[in-house]
Amino acid sequence: MLGARGGWQALRRCASLPRAQRAVRLRVREALRAREPAGGVKVQGWVRSVRSQKEVLFLHINDGSSLENLQVVADPSLENRDLTFGSAVEVQGKLVKSPHRMQDMELKAETIHVVGSCDTWSYPLKMKERHPLEYVRQFPHLRCRSNTLSSLLRIRSEATAAIHSFFQDNGYVHIHTPIITSNDCEGAGELFQIEMSHEARKSAEKTHFFNVPAFLTVSGQLHLEVMAGAFTHVFTFGPTFRAENSQSRRHLAEFYMVEAELSFTESLQDIMQVMEDLFKTATNTVLSKCPHDVGLFHKYIAPAQKTKDRLEQMLKNKFVIISYNEAVEILKQASQTFTFKPEWGCDLRTEHEKYLVRHCGEVPVFVINYPYDLKPFYMRDNEDGPQHTVAAVDLLVPGIGELCGGSLREERLPFLESRLQRYLDLRKFGSVPHGGFGMGFERYLQCILGADNIKDVIPFPRFSHSCLL
Ligand code: 4AD
Ligand code: MG
Repeated sequence: MLGARGGWQALRRCASLPRAQRAVRLRVREALRAREPAGGVKVQGWVRSVRSQKEVLFLHINDGSSLENLQVVADPSLENRDLTFGSAVEVQGKLVKSPHRMQDMELKAETIHVVGSCDTWSYPLKMKERHPLEYVRQFPHLRCRSNTLSSLLRIRSEATAAIHSFFQDNGYVHIHTPIITSNDCEGAGELFQIEMSHEARKSAEKTHFFNVPAFLTVSGQLHLEVMAGAFTHVFTFGPTFRAENSQSRRHLAEFYMVEAELSFTESLQDIMQVMEDLFKTATNTVLSKCPHDVGLFHKYIAPAQKTKDRLEQMLKNKFVIISYNEAVEILKQASQTFTFKPEWGCDLRTEHEKYLVRHCGEVPVFVINYPYDLKPFYMRDNEDGPQHTVAAVDLLVPGIGELCGGSLREERLPFLESRLQRYLDLRKFGSVPHGGFGMGFERYLQCILGADNIKDVIPFPRFSHSCLL
């Protein structure tokens, strides 16, 4: 996206062009931020409102580059029946100072060309209506033209860049871990198996295309661990798939996960520090790059002022650390009655996670050292007793519950024998203590924006019984 600087430079270029070529295309964001009037400007976008008065025709145009629309002022003679809400237009004219207090610039139209008309009767979005999120969810192909989704998508884009910058700035190498894999990293069996289509199978000789059963990845961790054995600090950020038969507000069948792996680390503290720094740095960047878009969520989507204030607290305070043992004790002493009774050895449920966060003052909470039997094979044995635990950590955040899951990895060969051959090999050839974590990107967006339902923070949500478009 071009910033105000880009718009300014484009306008300067435009001023120096010969008259015949003077129409310079500006994004709405650039036009709004232009510092001085300019002729020969062209803006393309979709009409967000049309208001026809006797003397003047007002249009608002949006092209996805900003939450704010560009006001177009035109002579009523330029009106035509295809110029409706939702239509795609190209407007040429002069950028002038706006007398309107809410905006600096507006476009005085000389020509308006309707590129694509829009039948407003059948168009599911209506002018000036704030549609409920559940309503626009039915139209994955059109909801990107609503304010909420376009803000969300700009925030997603900035957050993605901020996460990449965080790791690059801290010396991590970005690895493209595979989407197709023969491993079930988490061992939870929530795998989507890949098969050839019926047609392709008919002409193929083998049952398995890859000779072995293949799946969509549930985590890039194992491949990242391979790379951490050569680069020390690596990360990946890609789509992840889980066949969870859940319609919950925090689960998707396809979601994005940010994963990091660090070699030569012997302490969970190192892993937690990266999680906390990642959360705070990425969030501060998003807040400074898209204040209006985030503001829209905090004002209209999240309940009252709570998310904004809560987010400020999260960024200001140090995250809390408690052990799983302490967590169970806190839950047992709670006055609240839980649907699932808290017991040592049982997994923490969302209701438990949310209670723990509230108990600790609505700040993010790291829960460390979980029961050995609850966690996957790769987590490092704490060799403690009588209650046997592993060096695992979950980061719980207000409103959501679990945001990140990580651990020290079991780097000692005898502890892993008979589990996984390649994993064992890594322990034979230059094994080092290491650890890492994964953060669900959509849950991160839910957390900072106060979005209640995970389906509203991803452009095309996939969940059980739903794969629209
Ligand atoms: O806790 P999880 O399962 O951890 C792993 O997969 C590790 N192998 C990561 C690692 O250590 N490299 O998943 C990590 C995070 C969760 O904390 C949660 O935020 C998110 O991924 N997540 C989901 N998000 C949306 N929909 C789902 N079905 C999710 N399952 C996990
Ligand atoms: Mg987890």
